[in-house]
Amino acid sequence: QAKVEVDLAAIPEGKNVIIKWRGKPVFIRHRTSDEIKEAEGTDWQKLRDPQPDSARVKKPEWLIMLGVCTHLGCVPIGESGDFGGWFCPCHGSHYDISGRARKGPAPLNLEVPEYDFPEETNLIIG
Ligand code: FES
Repeated sequence: QAKVEVDLAAIPEGKNVIIKWRGKPVFIRHRTSDEIKEAEGTDWQKLRDPQPDSARVKKPEWLIMLGVCTHLGCVPIGESGDFGGWFCPCHGSHYDISGRARKGPAPLNLEVPEYDFPEETNLIIG
């Protein structure tokens, strides 16, 4: 369907959830305060796809992005890789805790879909 609703109250801090939206996986991470600090403190101007964390999230504690590697489309694995985020096992791309491409062949950061928070604990993707 065009839009998907997610109950955020069911996702504890420090956990990842994967949902399906338009046939694609969407990663939702409830980031910890340490992870937010790390994401915001990165020297992003030097990255291959330079984006500050603030351009990738609407609320710092919720990271929402497509689970599709920007190299050739595999699904990266959470809580792994050299940058505390995701690792794509197909050809070894590493993404950080903001979903930014940091190492390996991925040319771009993981894509952020359209989404909104209609209520405090509700997320609508699409
Ligand atoms: Fe992810 Fe190639 S598809 S590294």
